Amino acid sequence: MAESMKGLKRTHRCTEVSSANIGEQVTVMGWVQKRRNLGSLIFVDLRDRSGLLQIVFDENNVGKDGFEKAGTLRNEYVIAVEGKIAKRSAAINENLKTGDIEVIAFSLRILSESDTPPFPIEENSQTKDDLRLKYRYLDLRRPDLQRNLVLRSKVAFLMRNFMVKEGFLEIETPMLTKSTPEGARDYLVPSRVHPGSFYALPQSPQLFKQLLMCSGYDRYFQITKCFRDEDLRADRQPEFTQADMELSFVDVDDVIDVNERLLQYVFKEAISVDVKLPLPRMTWQEAMDRYGSDKPDTRFGMELRDVSETVKGCGFSVFTSALEQGGSVRGINVKGQVVMPRKKIDKLVEFAKGYGAKGLAYLGVNEDGTYKSSFAKFMTEEELKALVQSMQGEPGDLLLFAADRNKIVWEVLGALRIHLAKEAGLIDENQYNFLWVTDFPLLEWSDEENRYMAMHHPFTMPVEEDWERIDSDPGSVRAKAYDIVLNGTELGGGSVRIHQNDIQEKMLEVLGFTKERAWEQFGFLLGAFQYGVPPHAGLAYGLDRLVMHMVHAESIRDVIAFPKVKDASCLMSEAPNTVEEKQLEELGIQIRPKEETDA
Ligand code: AMO
Ligand code: AMP
Repeated sequence: MAESMKGLKRTHRCTEVSSANIGEQVTVMGWVQKRRNLGSLIFVDLRDRSGLLQIVFDENNVGKDGFEKAGTLRNEYVIAVEGKIAKRSAAINENLKTGDIEVIAFSLRILSESDTPPFPIEENSQTKDDLRLKYRYLDLRRPDLQRNLVLRSKVAFLMRNFMVKEGFLEIETPMLTKSTPEGARDYLVPSRVHPGSFYALPQSPQLFKQLLMCSGYDRYFQITKCFRDEDLRADRQPEFTQADMELSFVDVDDVIDVNERLLQYVFKEAISVDVKLPLPRMTWQEAMDRYGSDKPDTRFGMELRDVSETVKGCGFSVFTSALEQGGSVRGINVKGQVVMPRKKIDKLVEFAKGYGAKGLAYLGVNEDGTYKSSFAKFMTEEELKALVQSMQGEPGDLLLFAADRNKIVWEVLGALRIHLAKEAGLIDENQYNFLWVTDFPLLEWSDEENRYMAMHHPFTMPVEEDWERIDSDPGSVRAKAYDIVLNGTELGGGSVRIHQNDIQEKMLEVLGFTKERAWEQFGFLLGAFQYGVPPHAGLAYGLDRLVMHMVHAESIRDVIAFPKVKDASCLMSEAPNTVEEKQLEELGIQIRPKEETDA
């Protein structure tokens, strides 16, 4: 039966006591982690969010009734114990913070009982994800998840602390906003008052923070939820948290400066990691050429090399025809891997095809100077020598080549590089390699839409000297956009914004908007720009991703209290769900039967 805690007050969390408190009386409360009966003694490991504390019940101290009650305790019961801190009678447990002490109980209350949990509440649980997420409230009792959420809270606090000191104001922007094109898919919220109309949940506070700059709040920040209806991955959730900022009267270097100091401060205070400033920078072009990625993991080498010039006139038509079609031939050198079995190489070819490659050509350099290759027979000895040389190949190396459009070649080799490094254990997990990637292209051609799309977003400022090419060669115009990359993931991104109406209107025109449609969609921003707008720039971090890296979590779900699964549902609350007919009626919404939608 559940007892009340009337008259009791918790004095300490479980690990807030130590050998310095020996002899003191304490009242502790928490969950039963484990009970052991040793005849005349009962030991209980008591758990709360701080950790474990051993309680000893013996009849002399806790009385006959109390001792009997202790005998009924089961895992996850919530109890309150009054007792005295003593030096541990049995062997000291070095692994526990409180391993050298115990509490000799003189009173016990059972505050609530527990059914047998569906899985053990312990560190590094082997329990299947689905079960963990269905019982997330139990999963969250596990120490590893608790540590993650404690750190997350600390990181958010540190960020606020830093931003406030730097003169930023925390201002909330609306959650019920207007659906605008150009981003990911929106989550829509139907309006009851305006039947047939919808709000959109914000994908980011982008337009509102720019308006705040127009309104003179010159340094804004916010830690806020954002919503994107896109395919989920290990580091993506449909709702996630941005640490978002915007600054007036600044350029790229100002934003980078304040963010470098922010990162240095947060990493030092949160996880005692020294981040050396300034952080390295690399242009997008260099990142793609060297790593095949706009978010390179620089913790290991195996860089890409462009061998187009070398193979230009060779006899291997896979290479030459890719070049004739305006593509390139590039390779990576997998050091010492000429010994890789054929089967494994075939798997790499399949892996490459998964990223859109038509194939993967390989050239192994045997120790005796002969080759093991899928294409050596099409090339002369000289051509092969030159190719090996331009890859800085040595006997023992395995060279892998992709020939295609640049975009595919980068993607394939970029992915292979990471895959091979992981397999070979080349990555030092304790290293934090930050990198600014700058000068992204302003536009990206979309085959699907048959037009240019903004690579970052339509409000990103072009590099001034490139702007004159916006009509003649739009694909070559660079943007004043930057991403902050950590160990191969994009932690955050931002840009200098367009603050001139003529450039903004031209940009929207290039993206395929008529003037009318641009005003219809973005009128509130274009309008504001007619009343004096300061030059401004900003950046947003994915807070979840930042914390994920700090705790070395494999999934973004491990740093979010109540995450969603791959199909964007919540296994615990079972959202999304159907609603009552009456609610739909009020909203003027009728659900189309599935057959009709499919037809
Ligand atoms: P961007 O779209 O690059 O920029 O988003 C900023 C950062 O948010 C994180 N992020 C996500 N995290 C988890 N799940 C997702 N689905 C998800 N999508 C994005 C990433 C990303 O780097 N308004 C601009 C910022 C600006 O220009 O100031 C923006 O939203 O870590
Ligand atoms: P094939 O001429 O199709 O038999 O291919 C010969 C070799 O070239 C095989 O090892 C293929 O995997 C490889 N290959 C085919 N297409 C490409 C490509 N676009 N880039 C790199 N290698 C390729």
